[in-house]
Amino acid sequence: MINIENVTKSYVKGKKSIDGLNLEINNGEIFGFLGPNGAGKTTTIKMITGILNPDEGDILIDGKSIQKEPIEAKKNFGFVPDSPDMFLKLKGIEYLNFLADIYEIPNEVRKERIENLTKKFEIYENLNAEIQSYSHGMRQKIVICGVLLNNPKNWILDEPMTGLDPKSSYDLKEMMREHSKKGNTVFFSTHVLEVAEKLCDRVGIINKGKLVFVGTFEEMKNKFKENTSLEELFLEITENEK
Ligand SMILES: Nc1ncnc2c1ncn2[C@@H]1O[C@H](COP(=O)(O)OP(=O)(O)OP(=O)(O)O)[C@@H](O)[C@H]1O
Ligand SMILES: [Mg+2]
Repeated sequence: MINIENVTKSYVKGKKSIDGLNLEINNGEIFGFLGPNGAGKTTTIKMITGILNPDEGDILIDGKSIQKEPIEAKKNFGFVPDSPDMFLKLKGIEYLNFLADIYEIPNEVRKERIENLTKKFEIYENLNAEIQSYSHGMRQKIVICGVLLNNPKNWILDEPMTGLDPKSSYDLKEMMREHSKKGNTVFFSTHVLEVAEKLCDRVGIINKGKLVFVGTFEEMKNKFKENTSLEELFLEITENEK
């Protein structure tokens, strides 16, 4: 469960990139975070994960404040950033073992988990190569495997489908479904409205740092216009706020 409480953030004085954001993402829920480029999705995700501190407000992950109890809060989530370009000098297997060390995953368990996950994402054969030799999609996959290794209750993903081939994208979506069905939380940002409609229990739409809609697609259609395409609805909601 993730609670975002009255969060505000400015990068530049006098210009709020996130303005009074309140959002509760429940256990057992897949929540899609939508919004145009520059709306504040990544900034929000960086604050949830403790990369950035809010100017005001707080964020709780399973009841632990990311600012006041960062280590405890960080034990409760896995994070896939929008750019998977990190630890490029490490081999795939070194990266996964490094994460398994951090999360204190016992040797017997980690070997099997690494094998299962990397075979599922079809990068098992590449584990002995340096990550810098990987394609964008392969880098994305190794980061996802690293996150899932620890089997965290809350998944936080910034545009996770970008760069994945159709099979991997399908597998990831299935995994998100399974994860939420077990009573866990999945929070992800996306630009692909069709993915959000099919996958999410609820969505939030952010525009210029402000939340302009939270609810189900059904509610979105009822609140705004029926018989309009998803794309038109999205454009209308974000247009009106200018
Ligand atoms: N490091 C930074 N310094 C100054 N301004 C920033 C910085 N990072 C983001 N911003 C600004 O904050 C706002 C929100 O950016 P953010 O990256 O959160 O958007 P986003 O919704 O993730 O967009 P996208 O869909 O393009 O990924 C934008 O106006 C952006 O210019
Ligand atoms: Mg972003």
